[in-house]
Amino acid sequence: MKTTTILTGLQPSGDLHIGNYFGSIKPFLDLYDEQKDSAKFYLMVADYHALTSVRDGSALRRNIYNIVRDYLATGVDPEHVTLFRQSDNPDHMELGWILDCMVSVPFLMQAHSYKDKVTRGLDANAGLFTYPMLMAADILLYNTDLVPVGEDQRQHLEYTREAVTKFNNNYGEILKEPKEVILKNVGVVPGTDGQKMSKSYGNTIPLFGTREEIQKAVMSIVTDSTGDRPENVYAIHSLFRSKGQLESLYSEHTGKYKYLKEALIEDIDSLIAPMREKRNDINDGDIRKILAAGAEKARGISSITMEKIRDVIGINI
Ligand code: ADP
Ligand code: TRP
Repeated sequence: MKTTTILTGLQPSGDLHIGNYFGSIKPFLDLYDEQKDSAKFYLMVADYHALTSVRDGSALRRNIYNIVRDYLATGVDPEHVTLFRQSDNPDHMELGWILDCMVSVPFLMQAHSYKDKVTRGLDANAGLFTYPMLMAADILLYNTDLVPVGEDQRQHLEYTREAVTKFNNNYGEILKEPKEVILKNVGVVPGTDGQKMSKSYGNTIPLFGTREEIQKAVMSIVTDSTGDRPENVYAIHSLFRSKGQLESLYSEHTGKYKYLKEALIEDIDSLIAPMREKRNDINDGDIRKILAAGAEKARGISSITMEKIRDVIGINI
């Protein structure tokens, strides 16, 4: 009997980078290995969330195919993981709206996802403002226990729990409180400039880049270290090798930044090369079939939650 539910999502808003892999996909795959006998797994393509930033229909469509292909290439098994698209299940929108009605405007104004954009003087759309409640809906529809994400998503889980409290205080114990799973020391993967690696900062190492693209990204890692060790290179390298291995590599080659970067390129490439090969074998038809099957399974579960919610809030007359 499977007693735990584990769910995560990624926005199809651009090519995946190694921060996404170590911050979100790998923790998910590790949890899957550890708990596949006792837990149900959901992996969602958050395409409505991506609409807060992607305004090009063909780019979004391409990103959706790409992200599913990426998940499958990294080792997600669609027979055992419900792999589905948010927009294939209208329950997400419905619960998102209901949760919007549970929380206040000042509360949503404090969400980093919205506040950071406003602070940077960018135009924040209303979708970005209500983003945390759509994410809460994604999680709560499936009675999720654990959500593997990167550090930057921690606040969204706090927001989800707040939505649960608001809803349950009013209507009774219907929604289940989820918890985030954030891997220690992989919380934030630094980018080539030392800031958090993010597609929006242009500082990424692509997960499925060609060898040349990986080379170019690694060679551009900023190396203004205070001591002999190029800290940014070392931080990224620590994702690929144990501390002991790294300590000896970096102490044997003190100050040889080019050599150390080349070693990092090798390590990245040996992780990615087999995945890249697998990725090339997955066609669009396979992807559509997998998503259709995933959507049906997802709707089967979320409809039970929605039935209870509609009942207690008084809209099923
Ligand atoms: P980006 O910042 O590039 O737009 P997303 O916001 O789409 O990335 O993040 C997708 C997932 O990957 C989330 O779970 C997020 O926490 C994780 N993630 C993104 N960047 C990093 C990073 N630099 N380190 C660790 N995890 C990350
Ligand atoms: N907000 C997440 C991100 O940007 C993506 C996401 C949407 C998500 N819904 C989710 C992650 C539900 C975990 C669970 O990375």
